[in-house]
Formats: sequence, structure tokens, C-alpha cells
Amino acid sequence: MGFSYLIPVGHPVNHTKGKTIELTTLIKPMKVLVATEKPFAKVAVDGIREVVEKAGYELALLEKYTSKQQLLEAVADADALIIRSDIVDAEVLDAAQQLKIVVRAGAGYDNIDLVAATAHQVVAMNTPGQNSNAVAELALGLMVYAVRNFYNGTSGTELMGKKLGIHAFGNVGRNVARIAQGFGMDVFAYDAYCPDEVMTAAGVTPVHSAEELYRTCQIVSLHIPATPETKGSINHNLVALMPNGGILVNTARKEVVNEDELIALMQERNDLKYITDIMPAADATFRQVFAGRYFATPKKMGAQTAEANINAGIAAARQIVDYLQNGVTKFQVNK
Ligand code: 3PG
Repeated sequence: MGFSYLIPVGHPVNHTKGKTIELTTLIKPMKVLVATEKPFAKVAVDGIREVVEKAGYELALLEKYTSKQQLLEAVADADALIIRSDIVDAEVLDAAQQLKIVVRAGAGYDNIDLVAATAHQVVAMNTPGQNSNAVAELALGLMVYAVRNFYNGTSGTELMGKKLGIHAFGNVGRNVARIAQGFGMDVFAYDAYCPDEVMTAAGVTPVHSAEELYRTCQIVSLHIPATPETKGSINHNLVALMPNGGILVNTARKEVVNEDELIALMQERNDLKYITDIMPAADATFRQVFAGRYFATPKKMGAQTAEANINAGIAAARQIVDYLQNGVTKFQVNK
């Protein structure tokens, strides 16, 4: 009766890992902030709004913001936060005194300071799998672009029959495999955490080291997360194993590539191409030195489809409602 924002009777009030729900929370709707420097499609925002408002919460939007200060101000009274690659560090968490949950609408959560989130008693989640087909489609699109010489009118090659190496067989890697098989590619994968049977069931040949993958495949597609172990791990010695005409495709994270070493290698070997959806720090050098062998999208756009925005954005909104109302922590990443 006009009080749908009240925490429903029968639901325990405090699902927030010790963060006290102030009395004001009981008389004011919770605020869910969508803070996206790179905005979702409108249809996705409409879907998020529907989920949030149906739960009795208020939706606030901070889109296309250009300074951290704007984010710091916007999070001040937010109870829940939906982000994409937006940085949520200790300073943002300090500014977000009411915050109980942050959901990264997407897969990689290297943009959230998980230790700080835990210290601030904020639950951090991602929405795994929700945007993976979009990223996989872009990876194949980049491969076609590369083998057709960036559509410059010269004669290129085809993907059919080529050996594709998938570096990490998670949600995106599996979609890449499925689509690549449609192109008639011979698909290999390396993933230390994925059993061989999962790959073989998908018609993919497992290999048992990154070295074997790079040695075997003409095209390698990166799908590893950025972690302390993986940062800089795609280095000179590894990529140097690729056969003549090798193409490295990166729709994962720029940090996993050792840029200085890749530049050195591409100077030694003028047959190699680097195609990336995440502009390297050394973009200017790559562009200047490797014209015709290097391409970077101006803005990371793997997950930038209406479908991926809807899937990931609405999943994030639902996870927030499920957490605040029922304490569900299924996708928590800062346990
Ligand atoms: C992800 O980790 O989900 C992808 O890199 C997509 O990132 P984005 O939401 O910033 O486009």
C-alpha cells in the first residue's frame, strides 16, 4: 500500500555481512546506482529499471561520466552499485558509506578492489557467462578482419582449416570454439583449470601447456583473466613459438600481454599480427611501427551489444535484489 520499498515482512533484515541497515533504510527506498562510463543500451537500462523498481528500490544512473569525482559523488548514497569496467577502488568504497553490494555486469572483476570491498563489508559479484557470446563473436570478427588484411583490397586467407588456439576455456573460450567450428577451423585449447573431457566433449583438442598451444596454432585467441599470475604472461618467448603468419587476438585484458616484449618480437618477425579489443598502453608505438599488422578497437566493444547489455545488466539487477532480499551470494567473488 505505497510501502513496497519496505523490507518485506518475514524476510530477515540484515543480509549484509554485518553492515547495519540504518533506520532510514526502512523509510526510504534503497538506491541502486548504475555507474557506467561506457553505457548500456537503453533497452538494457529499461530492463534494469523494471527489476529494480519492481523490488521497491530506486534506480539512479551515472552514464558516460568523465571524472572519478562524479563517481565519488554519485555513490555517496547508493545501497547497491552496478558497474562494467568502471574502477571501484578503496577511495570509491570510502565514499560509498551506504553501499552493501557491487555487481560487475560482466565477467572480469579485476576493476574491483576485492580486499577493500571485503574490508568495507561490501559484497562483490560478477555475472559470468552473460556477455560471453558477444565477446566470442567479436573475436571471430577480428580474426576475419586480420586474415583479410584489414579489408584493404589485397588477397587474404580463410579461417577454414586453420588451427585456432583458445587460451583459457571458460565461457568466452567455449563460445569461440563453437563459432570457430562453424567456420571449419581446427580448434585446440589450453586451460590448466579445465578437464580434458570438457574440451573433447566440445570437439576441441586439449593441449597441456601454453607453449604447446602457441607452437601448434596459427591463430591464438586470449581468454585468460587478468590476475597477478597472468599479467605480462603473454611474452616474447611464448608468442615467438607461433608458426609463420601467426595472429594473436586479444579480447581479454591488455595487462596479460607484455607489450614491450611483443613489440620487440614483432620487430624481429614481420609475419606476426596483433589484433586487440583492448587498446594497449603502447598503442601509438604499435600503430606507428606495425601498420598493417596491428589493429585495436578505439574502445573495448566485445560486450557492447544490446543482447549482452540486457543479459548482464538484468542479471546484475536480479542478483542485487536476490542478495538484499534473500541473502543469495551465489556469484560473490570476494568470499
Ligand atoms: C567482461 O569482463 O565482461 C568484458 O571484458 C566486458 O567488459 P565491458 O562491460 O567493460 O564491456
